[in-house]
Amino acid sequence: MHNGSNLIVGLDVGTTKICTIVAEADREANVIRVIGLGNAPSRGLRKGVVVDMDSAVEAITASIENAEKMANVEIHSVFTGITGGHIWSINSRGVAAVGDPEEISVRDVDRAITAARAISLPADREVLHTIPQEFTVDGQTGVKEPVGMSGVRLEAEAHIVTGAITAAQNVIKSINKAGFEVEEIVLDSLASSIAVLSEDEKNSGVLLIDIGGGTTDFVVFHRGSIRQSEVIALGGDHVTNDISVALRLPISVAEEIKKNYGGAVEESIDPGEELEIPAGSGRAPSRYSCRELAKVIELRMGEILSLVKKRVERTGLRKLLGAGVVVTGGACLLEGTVDLAERIFGLPVRLGTPVGVSGITEVLDSPIYATGTGLAQYGYRSRREGRVSRFRRRGRIGRVVDRVLEWFRNRT
Ligand SMILES: Nc1ncnc2c1ncn2[C@@H]1O[C@H](COP(=O)(O)OP(=O)(O)OP(=O)(O)O)[C@@H](O)[C@H]1O
Ligand SMILES: [Mg+2]
Repeated sequence: MHNGSNLIVGLDVGTTKICTIVAEADREANVIRVIGLGNAPSRGLRKGVVVDMDSAVEAITASIENAEKMANVEIHSVFTGITGGHIWSINSRGVAAVGDPEEISVRDVDRAITAARAISLPADREVLHTIPQEFTVDGQTGVKEPVGMSGVRLEAEAHIVTGAITAAQNVIKSINKAGFEVEEIVLDSLASSIAVLSEDEKNSGVLLIDIGGGTTDFVVFHRGSIRQSEVIALGGDHVTNDISVALRLPISVAEEIKKNYGGAVEESIDPGEELEIPAGSGRAPSRYSCRELAKVIELRMGEILSLVKKRVERTGLRKLLGAGVVVTGGACLLEGTVDLAERIFGLPVRLGTPVGVSGITEVLDSPIYATGTGLAQYGYRSRREGRVSRFRRRGRIGRVVDRVLEWFRNRT
């Protein structure tokens, strides 16, 4: 059995499923290979955050054990994700006077980034990521790598992601209680972006939307850097809820119907097409129009996508999406999601599944595994760059200490 030291594990603690991706590094190819997958239905989470720790611990344990069995390995530590309505992010600037104007050093860059990160935050909030975007050297903007240049005044622009301290602590606590260490905690959509986006897309300008069960997370990249990241507390489970109310069916039946007969574009469904709803407790079998079903779905999926569009328009980034939109997450398995998004955004849209990894095809083919795979990819890069883990010791639940990410360009 693998002793675990070379393994990289991504643990996606989602609202509907907890998924463990076990990967090993293929150092020659500079990629990771997925060798194990563990799934367990999520319990104890609402809209991306832990609300019942005991249930969450059980589900985490089940998911990790499933992955251990499949890969025949023993897992000790994981890279995990965070999402929820408590996440908010801003772009910030910081300035530093250069120590030796002959040559800007790594220390100068660090000081400028530290200054950018010095935003005032309420006591219950913390910085989760500080992601450098670009630098300005003596008025010259758009500098990607200032180290080695000459200059007196160095300005850094960075994207700062913040979250509620307790939300991160509860995820870490749940994983620790299940008996595993957390190496790092990463914004879900950031992880998904690593798994599904190409460098070319990030340079040209792209919007990635991850529609999960309880949340919709989105990130905008432009000129290779992250510019906006937000979380909306709506997802595929709201679609299921709407179906349950409209058809007066239990949630579990509504979920099955959505997966088997659902479509996100009403007019693409043949008006005569019907679905059969099997008999249930106290319920006779019945038939329902697929078009009516699609109408219910389109309304909610349209609402979610329009909300994202509004938020991206608000920051002015909508005009910079040269590579269009990429949709991922389980809810995008709904037929017609790409078409609906194209209509709403008026831009080319594609479905994002994990790329740049090899291994289990089930993982590589599905938008459901974008976050989990991205977490493992993040972990691989983090270890390779020798970043020091924040919460290595089992049982220690400290305040999440922010750590500056390496230049995002070419590495994420
Ligand atoms: N085949 C399918 N067709 C339609 N919807 C699907 C399909 N498979 C899964 N879904 C939906 O995808 C959603 C779950 O997606 P995902 O696994 O990405 O969410 P999650 O990561 O658990 O949640 P979150 O990211 O919100 O915390 C659910 O609403 C589920 O109904
Ligand atoms: Mg998710």
